[in-house]
Amino acid sequence: MTQLTTCLSPQLLPLHQIQDKIVVVVDILRATSSMVTAFAYNVESVTPVPTLADCRLFKNEGFVTAGERGGQKVEGFDLGNSPFDFMNHELQGRHLAFTTTNGSQAIVLASEAKQVLIGSFLNLSATAGYLMAQKSPVLILCAGWKGNFNIEDTLYAGALAQKLETTFEISDDASLAAITLYNGVAGHMKEFLGKSSHAKRLAGFKNQKDLEFCLKRDQFGFNVVLQNTRLLKLDPST
Ligand code: MLT
Repeated sequence: MTQLTTCLSPQLLPLHQIQDKIVVVVDILRATSSMVTAFAYNVESVTPVPTLADCRLFKNEGFVTAGERGGQKVEGFDLGNSPFDFMNHELQGRHLAFTTTNGSQAIVLASEAKQVLIGSFLNLSATAGYLMAQKSPVLILCAGWKGNFNIEDTLYAGALAQKLETTFEISDDASLAAITLYNGVAGHMKEFLGKSSHAKRLAGFKNQKDLEFCLKRDQFGFNVVLQNTRLLKLDPST
């Protein structure tokens, strides 16, 4: 059986060999949830950019600049990193340059992989379905927070791994722990996550609705994939 494994922090990524794997990068709060939402509103592409300075340069090329530092919108950027910022039909056909504290960095780190997919609860079943149809080993990469483990990305890893339990061999401790955590709190994720450090950070900005939205399962039925340096909506026929 093909293997599925989990990497609980980008700091642990050097321990994994990713060239032959599909890597699913997840930053539930909020980067990858916001990116998937942007594609639901038909943006043409999202370019993940590691630094603020580089992201600003994209503005001169007609890109929409989006992102955050410390969870807050960056001065001079067009949009922040709330999924609600991307629920705007005027973004249809636009190219976005996106920089965040953890999520966009993790995507760039994973770019050596055979393929990079963007993970979120919002399109969980679509991602599971796509991975089931492939014959490739999978690594779920949790973006975490500044190199540290976080609960929300681990919960997603557990939810995705649990959906793939009968298709993939799952025997690494990180995936087994993630599945156990997810199974324990799946019915009350919002309450459980309220105790997490990033949820408290967002609550400090009086932001509760982002957490609620990012935990909604299966709002969208498509996948998002990295192609060279840009994220694109995956053509369902591929
Ligand atoms: C990140 O990439 O660290 C985040 O998505 C942080 C946030 O804006 O919530």
